[in-house]
Amino acid sequence: MATNPSGQIDSVLTEVRKFEPPAEFSSKAWVKSLAEHQALCKRADDDPEAFWAECARNLDWFKPFDKVLEWKFPFAKWFVGGSLNASYNCLDRHLKGGRRNKAAIIWEGEPGDSRVLTYQMLADEVGRAANALRELGVQEGDRVAIYMPLVPEAAIAMLACARIGAVHSVVFGGFSAEALADRINDAEAKVCITADAGWRRGAHVELKNNVDEALKRCSTIQKVVVLKRVGNKVSMRSGRDVWWDELVARQSPKCPPAQLDSEHMLYTLYTSGTTGKPKGVVHTIGGYLTHTLMTMKWVFDLKEEDTFWCTADIGWVTGHSYTVYGPLAAGATAVMYEGAPNFPHEDRFWRIIEKYGVTIFYTAPTAIRTFIKWGDSWVKDRDLSSLRLLGTVGEPINPEAWIWYRRVIGGDRCPIVDTWWQTETGGIMIAPVPGAIATKPGSATRPLPGVAAEVVTHDGKSVAANQGGLLVIKRPWPGMLRTVFRDPERYRQQYFSQIDGVYFTGDGARRDEDGYFWIMGRVDDVVNVSGHRLGTMEVESALVSHTSVAEAAVVGRPDEMKGQGVVAFVTLEGGRNGNDQLKQELRAHVVKEIGALARPDEIRFTDALPKTRSGKIMRRLLRQIASGDQTLGDTTTLEDLSVLAKLRDDEE
Ligand code: WT7
Repeated sequence: MATNPSGQIDSVLTEVRKFEPPAEFSSKAWVKSLAEHQALCKRADDDPEAFWAECARNLDWFKPFDKVLEWKFPFAKWFVGGSLNASYNCLDRHLKGGRRNKAAIIWEGEPGDSRVLTYQMLADEVGRAANALRELGVQEGDRVAIYMPLVPEAAIAMLACARIGAVHSVVFGGFSAEALADRINDAEAKVCITADAGWRRGAHVELKNNVDEALKRCSTIQKVVVLKRVGNKVSMRSGRDVWWDELVARQSPKCPPAQLDSEHMLYTLYTSGTTGKPKGVVHTIGGYLTHTLMTMKWVFDLKEEDTFWCTADIGWVTGHSYTVYGPLAAGATAVMYEGAPNFPHEDRFWRIIEKYGVTIFYTAPTAIRTFIKWGDSWVKDRDLSSLRLLGTVGEPINPEAWIWYRRVIGGDRCPIVDTWWQTETGGIMIAPVPGAIATKPGSATRPLPGVAAEVVTHDGKSVAANQGGLLVIKRPWPGMLRTVFRDPERYRQQYFSQIDGVYFTGDGARRDEDGYFWIMGRVDDVVNVSGHRLGTMEVESALVSHTSVAEAAVVGRPDEMKGQGVVAFVTLEGGRNGNDQLKQELRAHVVKEIGALARPDEIRFTDALPKTRSGKIMRRLLRQIASGDQTLGDTTTLEDLSVLAKLRDDEE
């Protein structure tokens, strides 16, 4: 996307369709009308602290907070003086009410095995796992890396950390050994919880082998806990590696929850930025749980009898907030599915919805586009009548995909909530409240109550309706990240220094005449591949670490399925010539360094990269070249114009 120097963005998308909330849905919803929504928002804007305090009181506190917010720009503390425990709020408090024997997690493995854990069963498992961590010497504040398949033990491990005040750092199972090692090292994790392997499209994902590989570069890990998932042969290093079954099964299910400060760290989760290595986004207990709990009600309109399925892996924030913490804090029944959507066939998701009677389904636009490609025939014989609400997250959804989702999956009956948020925001920020807000395909609609979102120029001035600009959040909110792990300066720099006095999201957006937000994608050097953020810098570093590569510049280009694809411009050492074999080698190298998600879709060898006189790579030009755009705009600062001509000549 092109931004001009003031931060204004040309916006081209126009979509006029509008869908009112179905009357039947509204009549039963938590928020029943636009008027009710407006009243909530007004209350929140008039007195944000009183509003959020009221929200926070939906949690169980061991000690009530005595101050709602302490805001020392840009550092926030929420619910100061209060103490609570996230696992207590997700488990124990439901045992006293009527939810003791309610299904907390309905899990299905890729091979077709399944398990149901009631709240009591889950609480017992979490208690055992928490005692196991204690036995391994894990203490309050210690970091525990979790590198697991999407099995119940992944959630159990997270909640076990939360129970004893340890900090989890979940690393997506699709990341490589290298990426895992970087994250373990940055967090200085003491224990790593993993599995022998996971299932993906009928094959093994070699998690334990990757851990062994990663730990060659890590010195802080003292113990590795290994869950037997697929039964493949793995090596166990004596003194370091222990089997989950042997360690956890013999523990007592009773483990008193640590009484933790509201601002105690709950977890860190690594996410990509524009420069340097991924940063550990830090979330703390009280604010994060308040935000995730409230959004279960506002956005997903969660009721006692719902069966909620968020398809995200727990390795991403979506899995943290809407598979584990949000649903469990709300006492919901959450579905978890381990494997690929097309195993053994392309109807797996629809079979799961049918089998368990899923009522709320939350997935990513990239998945929806894939379903469209696979064809309606996979859906038509499945009974999806249990569904009452659909959601999307991760990237802007194209109106065609939105309409298909509504018609084919939602039977023209279910509202769609397009939810905008980020790893950093902790929970959903902009989304329709489905009983109250009419939807427009492609728009995340309006900010939630208490969320002060705005579209501004680089100088922080509001832009007029339908003018593109930069998306900012003007007031702190409970779920916000507190810092970057051990790097408060980077936190300030990345989020609070670009536009005066406010949180900058990195996204471009416009607001239409009804006040609806249309997210236009990232304005920084971050690509969004299949709804996941990748820093172009990271891919560049991976490429440059290959002995043949002298310099690399990575940009995104529009991709019909994935949202954005990765294109790498590469110059080689010592004037070497590139060939197809080297391209393959470099692509494989990036997979090894980061993971399959980052694999470049295209590699272009070039003698030189277009640079400004000060030596900065002109990514805007590369982006335009990569997407085949002929109008390159202002090139007056380009150092060597012939570079550009050559790059364009090389286009296929
Ligand atoms: C970036 C955050 C938060 C969960 C998954 C991704 C993009 C996210 C939407 C949406 C348009 C969206 C933004 C954002 N994004 N949701 N509904 N419409 N764009 O988390 O990896 O932290 O990425 O994803 O660009 O900044 P993440």
